Amino acid sequence: MEIKLPFIFFSLSLIILLLVPFSFAQIPGFVSLDCGGNVNFTDEIGLKWTPDDKLTYGEISTISVANEKRKQYTTLRHFPADARKYCYKLDVVSRTRYLLRATFLYGNFDNNNMYPKFDISVGATHWSTIVISDANTIESIELILLVTSPTITVCLSNATTGTPFISTLELRQLNGSVYYTDFENRYYLSVSARINFGAQSNAPIRYPDDPFDRIWESDSSKKANYLVDVAPGTQKISTNVSIDVNRIEMPPVKVMQTAVVGTNGFLTYRLDLEGFPGFGWAFVYLAEIEDLAKGESRKFRPVIPGQLDLSKVVLNIEENAPGKYRLYEAGVTNISLPYVLSFKLGKTSDSSRGPLLNAMEINKYLEKNDGSPDGDAISSVLSNYTPAEWANEGGDPCLPVPWSWVHCSSDPQPRIISIFLSNKNMTGNIPLGITKLTGLVEIWLDGNMLTGPIPDFSRCRDLMIVHLENNQLTGPLPNTLMKLPNLRQLYVQNNMLSGRIVSTGSNNDLILNYNGNLNLHKGKGRVSDKQAIIIGSAVGAPILLLVTILSFLVTCKRKKKYNSKDHLACHRSQFMISSNNDDGPIEGAQCFSYSELKISTNNFEKKVGSGGFGVVYYGKLDDEKEIAVKVLASDSYQGKREFSNEVSLLSRIHHRNLVELLGYCREEGNCMLIYEFMHNGTLKEHLYGPLTQGRSINWIKRLEVAEDAAKGIEYLHTGCTPAVIHRDVKSSNILLDRHMRAKVSDFGLSKIAAEGVSHVSSVVRGTVGYLDPEYYISQQLTDKSDVYSFGVILLELISGQEAISNDSFGANCRNIVQWAKLHIESGDIQGIIDPALQDNYNLQSMWKIAEKALMCVQPHGHLRPSMSEVVKEIQDAISIEKQSMRTSDEMSSNSMHSSMNTGSMDLGATDNYLSIDESITQPSAR
Ligand SMILES: *[C@@H]1O[C@H](CO)[C@@H](O)[C@H](O)[C@H]1NC(C)=O
Ligand SMILES: *[C@@H]1O[C@H](CO)[C@@H](O)[C@H](O)[C@H]1NC(C)=O
Ligand SMILES: *[C@@H]1O[C@H](CO)[C@@H](O)[C@H](O)[C@H]1NC(C)=O
Ligand SMILES: *[C@@H]1O[C@H](CO)[C@@H](O)[C@H](O)[C@H]1NC(C)=O
Ligand SMILES: *[C@@H]1O[C@H](CO)[C@@H](O)[C@H](O)[C@H]1NC(C)=O
Ligand SMILES: *[C@@H]1O[C@H](CO)[C@@H](O)[C@H](O)[C@H]1NC(C)=O
Repeated sequence: MEIKLPFIFFSLSLIILLLVPFSFAQIPGFVSLDCGGNVNFTDEIGLKWTPDDKLTYGEISTISVANEKRKQYTTLRHFPADARKYCYKLDVVSRTRYLLRATFLYGNFDNNNMYPKFDISVGATHWSTIVISDANTIESIELILLVTSPTITVCLSNATTGTPFISTLELRQLNGSVYYTDFENRYYLSVSARINFGAQSNAPIRYPDDPFDRIWESDSSKKANYLVDVAPGTQKISTNVSIDVNRIEMPPVKVMQTAVVGTNGFLTYRLDLEGFPGFGWAFVYLAEIEDLAKGESRKFRPVIPGQLDLSKVVLNIEENAPGKYRLYEAGVTNISLPYVLSFKLGKTSDSSRGPLLNAMEINKYLEKNDGSPDGDAISSVLSNYTPAEWANEGGDPCLPVPWSWVHCSSDPQPRIISIFLSNKNMTGNIPLGITKLTGLVEIWLDGNMLTGPIPDFSRCRDLMIVHLENNQLTGPLPNTLMKLPNLRQLYVQNNMLSGRIVSTGSNNDLILNYNGNLNLHKGKGRVSDKQAIIIGSAVGAPILLLVTILSFLVTCKRKKKYNSKDHLACHRSQFMISSNNDDGPIEGAQCFSYSELKISTNNFEKKVGSGGFGVVYYGKLDDEKEIAVKVLASDSYQGKREFSNEVSLLSRIHHRNLVELLGYCREEGNCMLIYEFMHNGTLKEHLYGPLTQGRSINWIKRLEVAEDAAKGIEYLHTGCTPAVIHRDVKSSNILLDRHMRAKVSDFGLSKIAAEGVSHVSSVVRGTVGYLDPEYYISQQLTDKSDVYSFGVILLELISGQEAISNDSFGANCRNIVQWAKLHIESGDIQGIIDPALQDNYNLQSMWKIAEKALMCVQPHGHLRPSMSEVVKEIQDAISIEKQSMRTSDEMSSNSMHSSMNTGSMDLGATDNYLSIDESITQPSAR
């Protein structure tokens, strides 16, 4: 890691210090803080480092790590592993974009080999959790931010293991607008990848080659899961000709002078994206640095699993940056990316050269936290006490953890509820800023040297406890204070207050201590001696104890309130199903007699199925209609009422994708349900098991089955009033009729969901492997539980695997969801596709279903799609599949030609992106 050259300027100011930026020269906008250092120095690449020696807290350690001799990495500053936060404050130019970098080299400084884990935040925003996993490796994090105030604070907090520490803190002012986004007032960009492709060494490129000191990692640097799965035929190329990068913030010339090209027609890479999954900003930087002969072209498409729209884009450098050696940048400002990113650049069929890539940047959107709404008010208080340590803790008053002398509410935008500033030598008037903290419950300003009148606290309606004793306050005891509706304790003894104490309003149980104010007297109001309980001059330990107890009480009280509300919600969500008479005929349903059924089933001769609720027999009615008779196990229904409810409900539901309930029988201690007969059995039998050998259903048929079943469930959710949640969606509950159309069966577990109520609390039922984990944990049933189960069915359709298996999914995995997720998220869809499908499917439709399936099995219901969305996606997949079947029919005459081509990219001459995509997303399969 060596580069050369000069200089910087730095401006910093640390907590506690008077904010005097000292600047010695050169590059404006650079701050390079050597944490734990003690001298100014210039490093070998010309960065000017300055020590953080004005910081009054934390301790310094020196370390020595083999292979890391840079001076800034020989020292660090560490902080107590307590509940506080420790902040650096940096001066910046407001409304300017900066790159902020923090680095951490543990080096076993504490001789403990206890690898630290702690949080780092920018202002109130949680930036990252630093997890040290190697004593000798530098952890580095970067943020691109538009600053909106003249200073920023960077704080370490939440020491989870080991001791929090920091090695360097660097700030680089950016010029121009390369990192402008529409969202920059609400989001920071957290840097995940910044890669120089075709690099000629392992060393990164940074300052001075990059005037903003961005670090462009070499694509040959060796890191775990970093740029692996490189396609065969990938070659590094470089040029000595300067590149026209056009704008200053573009990648530096040296980065653009190298590239990789895919000589076999494609480039592929896989890498872990720190911070993802999430939404991000992703750009590639391209410049033609090879000589193309006349008539040659270089056109290619990006492919990222799940980003089909992206594959419609054709990257053509010549068209966008005509002539050689000119930069063309292409990218997306908001894209959803996984943690494990597999991407591919594949040449189009009409391009003569394979793809080229010079550099790439991927940043994740990090939502800004605006912090406590009390920030401004409390800052105005601090400004009166700048030299005091308590006034310099830095950052947000409440986030990520509160200052040592405040307590905050637990709202997402926390308010200050308590202030503890007893005995802090405060002088002057009581700061007016305090009266603007409208969430205040408790104030302790006793034992200071405060003078002047007591200000108007009437905006602090929640104030309960006020300690102003042992100051030099003058003037009257304000009426507004006495009348606060929640005030319970007011201590003003030993001041110089005067006048008369007026009515305490409705506060009959107010504890008021006004002793030791020579000129303050009881008025004619309702203040009795009893109310004015005198507590001696109260300071020190007993008070602290009292504070703790009181604040504990306050929190408990709040919690309780919250819980009782919760409780209420639970109650409301429970409901009773309006019931039929227990015996008489069931409304809307046909009643069959036992003898009739006995005849039609030939004395229950032919068993066609069995499930958790009983055995199913084949039967034929007098009119030749075939039926399935489900004889319910006697313990399936606890009572007649449940049976009636269920039957009445089921017979009201009619949909072409739901197995129809024809009637019921309730005689001689038996409960039976009579359904239409489904000739082709269950979906399960058609997907796996011994019966499928050689005759498993093809992909388009599977999609159609999925569509039918999804529509059936969608109808239950949206077409019925009240909505019905199936509760036991699984492949053995999807039945196929004579024409192989699917219908959903077995509403045995269904319960009605009341209108307008989002969940029904009930005992968890369902089938292992299909059971929504959120439902299992919370016992709150929603329609999204069915969506989960349906997602499992989609995975079964793709893979032909059972939902739960002891040996199909490899070690430590019994569950299709885990297994499929692992493959799909790493871009390896081929690894899960049912071999029985052979090659007879379109990869795009497969991806579509795979992605939707993963959405369906998201751990949290609110992240899952609705059944209607699922139906739509399946229909899209079907139309893709049908279109590609047509295309491949048309192209079958070309297949000789295509298989004779060396590159897998050339699927004949058509430029239909569907066919191209199919080939480029299947790397070397053919
Ligand atoms: C570093 O340089 C600044 C500016 O010249 C100076 O104020 C400061 O005292 C120096 N610090 C040390 C430790 O030499
Ligand atoms: C601190 O970190 C731990 C583990 O990383 C986490 O569980 C906890 O919520 C964090 N606490 C705060 C206050 O952020
Ligand atoms: C950024 O802009 C400032 C002000 O226009 C200028 O002084 C500085 O040199 C620029 N920095 C770079 C690296 O171009
Ligand atoms: C670039 O210049 C260096 C040194 O002058 C030379 O070794 C190298 O071969 C040149 N590279 C190309 C691609 O021309
Ligand atoms: C990005 O797109 C998603 C989905 O369209 C949206 O929810 C999000 O707000 C967008 N912006 C950012 C910065 O994530
Ligand atoms: C207050 O001032 C006194 C006397 O100057 C000093 O001894 C004491 O440490 C100070 N207390 C605080 C909290 O600053």
